[in-house]
Amino acid sequence: MREKLTGTVEYIKNSTNTKPQVGLILGSGLGMLADLIEDKEEIPYGEIPHFPVSTVAGHKGQLVFGTLRGKQVVAMQGRFHFYEGYTMQEVTYPVRVLKEMGVEKIIVTNAAGGINIDFRPGDLMLIKDHIHYMGNNPLIGKNDEELGPRFPDMSEAYNKELRELVKKVALENKIPMQDGVYMSCTGPSYETPAEIRFMRTIGADAVGMSTTPEVIVANHAGIKVIGISCITNMAAGVLNKKLDHGEVMETAEIAKEKFSNLILNVLGEL
Ligand code: HPA
Repeated sequence: MREKLTGTVEYIKNSTNTKPQVGLILGSGLGMLADLIEDKEEIPYGEIPHFPVSTVAGHKGQLVFGTLRGKQVVAMQGRFHFYEGYTMQEVTYPVRVLKEMGVEKIIVTNAAGGINIDFRPGDLMLIKDHIHYMGNNPLIGKNDEELGPRFPDMSEAYNKELRELVKKVALENKIPMQDGVYMSCTGPSYETPAEIRFMRTIGADAVGMSTTPEVIVANHAGIKVIGISCITNMAAGVLNKKLDHGEVMETAEIAKEKFSNLILNVLGEL
């Protein structure tokens, strides 16, 4: 792993002058935030040695380096999902790369289904904790102590100070925000109503198919995490209707201005 990382980082460092302190992992419908980055340097995933190879046709996968709200950032425009067939190590490899590039904080975003009945499609939810329910873990295998501890603590997976900061920024900018627990499943099938009832019972407020692997590795690597979900739909069985990926994308599109506003203002204060 370390040899691969060295090769990857050497290539990237030769392609950009940016020294990012903040990483952005942009979920469904939020990739446009990367377009706002100033003095952009874009590196397609396909050019980066040892990066996972994107299988999805027409999928825009690239690292975007530059400045956003005065901060040097790197954005992952397009992420790797476990349901696409990548291994957990592949899904989380970019987080290792970000760490090697000097990133100390990451903002992770996703689209999620609302389990909490007080939520509405279009709501933003600050992730206060997660339930990783993918039946696999990116840290399984030999541990490299130079990358992080064998048994990393996850009791503050989403940094408390940063969560307070996001709440303050949301309040100041009059952006309504929910707060809750994100539960991940592998997908790609959506959940059944029975699964959603189970998830509500064990304390989940929203469900999605990403994020927790990256957050586990970020914690292992000592990167502080902010996680924000866009509730794009109510989860299966909550309303009397079927789930549809088109609706998920439509709601993400409608919420994206509010979402990017929040993230830009948070960035300004990091
Ligand atoms: N379930 C799982 N993943 C999702 C959902 C959902 O309802 N909505 C958006 N991503």
